[in-house]
Amino acid sequence: MTIPIILDTDPGIDDAAAISIALNHPEIDVKMISTVHGNVNIDKTTRNALQLKGFFNSEVPVHRGAAAPLINNPIDASHVHGETGMGGYELPEPDPSLLSSNSAIQAMKETLLNADTPITIVPIGPLTNIALLFKTYPEVKTNVKEIVLMGGSAGRGNVTPAAEFNIYCDPEAADIVFKAGLPITMVGLDVARGASLSSSAIEELKSINETTDMLYHMFNHYHGDEFDSGLAVYDAYTMLYLLHSDDFKTADAHVDIELNGKHTRGATVVDYNADEKPVTVVLAVDKSKFKHLFYDALAHAK
Ligand code: BDR
Ligand code: CA
Repeated sequence: MTIPIILDTDPGIDDAAAISIALNHPEIDVKMISTVHGNVNIDKTTRNALQLKGFFNSEVPVHRGAAAPLINNPIDASHVHGETGMGGYELPEPDPSLLSSNSAIQAMKETLLNADTPITIVPIGPLTNIALLFKTYPEVKTNVKEIVLMGGSAGRGNVTPAAEFNIYCDPEAADIVFKAGLPITMVGLDVARGASLSSSAIEELKSINETTDMLYHMFNHYHGDEFDSGLAVYDAYTMLYLLHSDDFKTADAHVDIELNGKHTRGATVVDYNADEKPVTVVLAVDKSKFKHLFYDALAHAK
């Protein structure tokens, strides 16, 4: 049985790793990709998504989404991912005909309403598109199985001491999504703290296949959070969680998005003692398995 998903992304080097798994894994059925502002601007994230679609010769439709957060000005992370958003590897300029539309919200609505079975939404960038979707077409919610998102943290942040990048970029959108009344799994910064890619693990990527060679070059240009044990490939954990949730440690909680704090705007406030705990917070992955889960997932790519 495959897992039908809508992938909402701002590629992004770790997004590229997640997309590489999603588009090639036999157990994941990507119905569409929507792009969003985030790591770089919407023109660049869309170009990058199309480059990856071209690289994999994929039939999955790519739709361009929101260019800016609901209220904030856009914030980018080109210092992390390079000027293009996917530094370190040159992919050919994509043919413009690869873009299915400039209306990601409309496309998500149609994909959801036409689906035979409920679809999992996997946002791995700022939550602007998903908030706009739920505000504009609330009727789609009945066809959403769950939301498995990369964002937030049960501990400290990465863009500020309190806030994680995807939530910080558009806290109002995150607030709408967390209050949507749907099951949410928050794959935040916590997972990577215990399991990241060591430099020798990154070296090994060179020789597995063409895709891991591409990721090897990108990872060498990725200035993401580094821990003692290595590099965090945040967005890819969402795919590994979809495929192997039993290997992850989780806790149920209520999560609020801080919208006002002078020093804490964009923080995910995780309450394990609340009466209602609709969010599954992913805290860790089995350290002994992480590298193999990641490599095995990528082994399906060319
Ligand atoms: C998140 O921020 C982005 O830079 C990454 O692509 C990931 O989605 C990590 O905080
Ligand atoms: Ca991302």
